Amino acid sequence: MEFTVKLTDAQSRVIIEKGCHTHLKDYMDFNGRVMVVTDDNIPDSLKETVLNQFDGAILAEVPQGEKAKSFEIYGDLLANLLENGFSRKDFIIALGGGVVGDLAGFVASTYKRGCRFVSIPTSTLAQIDSSIGGKVAINMNGIKNCVGNFYHPETVFVDTDTLKTLETRHFYNGLAEAVKAGCIGDAQLFDIFKNHAHELAADSPYLEEIITRSLLFKRSVVQQDEKEQNLRKILNFGHTIGHAIESLYNLKDYYHGECVANGMIMITEDKQIKKDLTDIFAKMHIPFVKEPDADKCIGFIKNDKKAAGGTVDIVKVDRIGQAYIEKTAIEEMKKYFGRQL
Ligand SMILES: NC(=O)c1ccc[n+]([C@@H]2O[C@H](COP(=O)([O-])OP(=O)(O)OC[C@H]3O[C@@H](n4cnc5c(N)ncnc54)[C@H](O)[C@@H]3O)[C@@H](O)[C@H]2O)c1
Ligand SMILES: [Zn+2]
Repeated sequence: MEFTVKLTDAQSRVIIEKGCHTHLKDYMDFNGRVMVVTDDNIPDSLKETVLNQFDGAILAEVPQGEKAKSFEIYGDLLANLLENGFSRKDFIIALGGGVVGDLAGFVASTYKRGCRFVSIPTSTLAQIDSSIGGKVAINMNGIKNCVGNFYHPETVFVDTDTLKTLETRHFYNGLAEAVKAGCIGDAQLFDIFKNHAHELAADSPYLEEIITRSLLFKRSVVQQDEKEQNLRKILNFGHTIGHAIESLYNLKDYYHGECVANGMIMITEDKQIKKDLTDIFAKMHIPFVKEPDADKCIGFIKNDKKAAGGTVDIVKVDRIGQAYIEKTAIEEMKKYFGRQL
């Protein structure tokens, strides 16, 4: 299966096919040099499979985890490209999860004002969510994604075979973003989770459909609102509270998707939807955050870039498959914290 994300000044071709990462040149012409950016926790076999397809390809490995989205590592990668004489016609391939995608994409967007960029997402989070939409960024002064850009990969190779080595907790963490996509825009996708959340794995027959539906929904939103002027904000369902929980725990104890899952449950008022979400996430072994400190969380929301003039745009879902944005006084957000079943 394949589709295109059409943007004002760019487009991304998305290929969703088992095994595609093993024969990349069958899909596009790599008429330039190649640097593969990856992290030190991605299995060697994956790295070798990609590297061996290109003569003289360079492997650039960064430390795994959020800390790689730093100015220092960003600078190291630029220096590496420069020392190896890369031009803007050459390729950066991101091979890894959302961290590698955000970092390599930001490097690609700025090196010589933009070189060619291809993505091979290898985590569920990256395959479901971060690999399309063009948001690329690094962190600064402890603030996530504070320095970044919009830059779209020309091709995204989504290969569920690469997920076989992903740790179970990361596997479910990424799927939380697909549950989100179901809630806000695709009731059939939500039903897959209602019926099969207990049996999802890398080789599950439903996985490719989950990823495809999530990406197609994200495409429809991004194509209508490329730069997050308005509609794209609905993708933030569960995220206002989720980000606050991430900050509360210093981005350590819980992963992003886990925090968003908790955020979705807390912000939902409809009893049935709240129950369904709780059941689905329990089956996916998502840890529940017990009564986070509401006052501290409100403080984080106040500092969030999306909060202006004491209010914040929150995303609500009263009917599965439909979302709306509600401007809410930040102080009023207190009532949502800890409101699980
Ligand atoms: N750009 C966007 O639109 C967007 C959207 C959501 C999240 N993000 C960003 O994505 C990042 C989180 O992404 P993530 O959850 O993928 O984290 P990650 O990139 O840190 O990957 C999670 C862990 O899984 C490992 N891993 C990845 N693929 C593997 C594989 N196939 N086999 C074995 N191990 C593997 C990684 O080494 C890492 O340790 C955050 O920085 C977040 O800000 C970006
Ligand atoms: Zn998210």
